[in-house]
Amino acid sequence: MLEPGNQTVRLRKLRKSETVRRLVKETRLDPSCLVAPIFVTHGNKVVEPVSAMPGVNRYSVDQLGSYVSRLSETGISAVLLFGIPDTKDDLGSQAYAGDGVVPRAISEIKSAVPSMLVVADVCLCEYTSHGHCGIVRNGQVDNDETLPLLSRAAVEYARAGADIVAPSAMMDFQVAAVRSALEEARLDETLIMGYSAKFASSFYGPFREAAGSTPSFGDRRGYQLGTGNTREAMREIEKDAEEGVDIVMVKPALSYLDVIAEARSRFDLPVAAYSVSGEYSMIKAAGANGWLDEKRAAMEVLTSIKRAGADIIITYFAEQAAQWLSE
Ligand code: PBG
Repeated sequence: MLEPGNQTVRLRKLRKSETVRRLVKETRLDPSCLVAPIFVTHGNKVVEPVSAMPGVNRYSVDQLGSYVSRLSETGISAVLLFGIPDTKDDLGSQAYAGDGVVPRAISEIKSAVPSMLVVADVCLCEYTSHGHCGIVRNGQVDNDETLPLLSRAAVEYARAGADIVAPSAMMDFQVAAVRSALEEARLDETLIMGYSAKFASSFYGPFREAAGSTPSFGDRRGYQLGTGNTREAMREIEKDAEEGVDIVMVKPALSYLDVIAEARSRFDLPVAAYSVSGEYSMIKAAGANGWLDEKRAAMEVLTSIKRAGADIIITYFAEQAAQWLSE
């Protein structure tokens, strides 16, 4: 029988003091891996709180310069833009209008903080009257009719100065379509971040309130992945890689950490994870009620996403987390 005193490996030594704990820390977060999503709305002088996402606002273009400068001061170096147009139609035409909210937001941000990396979400759901991510024919989203519109949007955003375009409609061939449209427009330096493994999730609820993009009929299960399907998610990533994607994404993050880990081990592409609106609101609500410690819960979740293998984390906690990291 081994007496406790005969044991030589005392694992607790590694947790002895803050200095030792810091020295042996395996997973490190730093602001350079965080991307802050921004909702850009039409109008002027608008800073409008999103009620389901305390601390998150919709900004009109004129307000972005000061907001992005503030983000940059905290150490955030990348933002992801979503547009909320003043008019919606069946074809989502404001998504690819040259003077739409997103192209204007991109130029505004680039002139305020030139070094800020701008990622533009490429989808139709915020711009269509029916709220689906593509063109609807006979009650179904038509894949191939949607592709040219996504491509036009991507080209408009790249032309306005976006560094990265991020097709998120979950249409087949969307990366290939965007890639060739960019090449044709001689915008070959623009990166593509594919929302490759995007699951049909209840955690998008608060975002749909923020962006006014709830489908008016049906749901997105005809194009987004089913929760239990990891292998199918890997096929989506593989397909995007073949089509020339630069960065792949898994979304949501918290309920899909195993999918992030699997993507990390199978592919050599940079992996982004999108910690979505519901993941944020859940922690904010519990924190506001005093049920858990908001800061510790948020940092624990972000660390777990990093530990699972994400290189890049898109999170509504970005600004706060950057501040917490510098404390
Ligand atoms: C658009 C899109 C969605 C999100 C990002 N891009 C919503 C959806 O599919 O309904 C959700 C992000 C979030 O919940 O934070 N296709």
